[in-house]
Amino acid sequence: MEIVTCRAPVNIAVIKYWGKRNEKLILPVNSSLSATLDIDQLCTKTTVAASNKFKTDRIWLNGREESLDNPRLKKCLAEIRQRARKRKSSPTKDGVTPAAMLDWKVHICSENNFPTAAGLASSAAGYACLVATLAKVFKVEGNVSDIARQGSGSACRSMYGGFVQWLMGEEETGEDSIAEQVVTEDYWPEMRILILVVSDHKKATSSTAGMQSTVETSPLLPHRAEKIVPDRMVAMTTAIEEKDFKTFAELTMKDSNQFHAVCLDTYPPISYMNDTSRHIVRLVHAFNAFKKQTKAAYTFDAGPNAVLFTLENDVSELLSFINHFLPQGDEDKEDVFIRGLPADIHTPSKELQSAVTFDPIPNSLRYIIHTKVGPGPVTAEDPELGLIDSNGQPKSLK
Ligand code: DP6
Repeated sequence: MEIVTCRAPVNIAVIKYWGKRNEKLILPVNSSLSATLDIDQLCTKTTVAASNKFKTDRIWLNGREESLDNPRLKKCLAEIRQRARKRKSSPTKDGVTPAAMLDWKVHICSENNFPTAAGLASSAAGYACLVATLAKVFKVEGNVSDIARQGSGSACRSMYGGFVQWLMGEEETGEDSIAEQVVTEDYWPEMRILILVVSDHKKATSSTAGMQSTVETSPLLPHRAEKIVPDRMVAMTTAIEEKDFKTFAELTMKDSNQFHAVCLDTYPPISYMNDTSRHIVRLVHAFNAFKKQTKAAYTFDAGPNAVLFTLENDVSELLSFINHFLPQGDEDKEDVFIRGLPADIHTPSKELQSAVTFDPIPNSLRYIIHTKVGPGPVTAEDPELGLIDSNGQPKSLK
């Protein structure tokens, strides 16, 4: 039996992917760019065991067996096996040739270290982890981001750490629609990220369905894809390479705003942001106006949660400011409100408090995660960390 465990990160786009030119291959209408978040705070862990003793491929997600009759999952498995078939075979440590493994079935066990219901990008980390782990098991080397892309578009960017671009590509086959690292996770070490998990129980329109509707009905989308994003990709790459926070932050906010504008231009319209999201937008602009410099940026995906970017020296003041205006509610007092990296929280100065014209609104946020930019998928060397036992069965079930 071959058994491998990997952990893979979540990523958050600063230039958004929204719209496919090919639904089946998941080819986007524009390139996109993201920051990979540290796996210490948010990650998916996946163990894959392959054996000639297994009768069928099986998958368990968060402790429950799920059907493998899912076209995207099946595609990722088939593509990895296909690539393994093409590659030169060198025997594994037990003398098994990869060619002999091609008929082996797999057992896959996967878990998130964060609540799936929080609406954080779990499919990106999930498919990136699946593909990274399968590639290790079947000894497939090189860029496999095009396989992760076929699980979920944004997953291809979780195959690398630091800042990553997904090049839209031109080929009909999708072979040039791949992710590439822009800079490593150590390049801009001062960058900090705050995830504001908004209290909200409504299920948003899924990204897949939402973007399909946008492609069909929004006249603004082709304008964005053809006229706006190409220049923004260049400007964003330069801002990151030059560690120019002001440009980085302004482009991030403008691109998030344009993505949500394109959603509103969809017919019927799609709105992912709620009142709390809009309060966060006001707070960030008020903070920047008070500081007379762009010190913080927001971005929102297909839901109301906000992701803020700031630099290490400003985290304490920004977090204290957010915590003052959107404080924890009494009902949630048992839970840790600010999670992840440590930060000093204080009462904001009277001047900063008066920069905002609304009163504090408790219970708007469920919690905040303080994190940073991190690496791509990593292999866990210690078998104790794996989710599958030596008989090839899940260690724990729900
Ligand atoms: C708003 O990658 O989840 O987060 O390819 O259909 O699986 P599918 O969609 P998905 O869409 C992500 C959309 C986004 C923007 C982004 O991450 O770039």
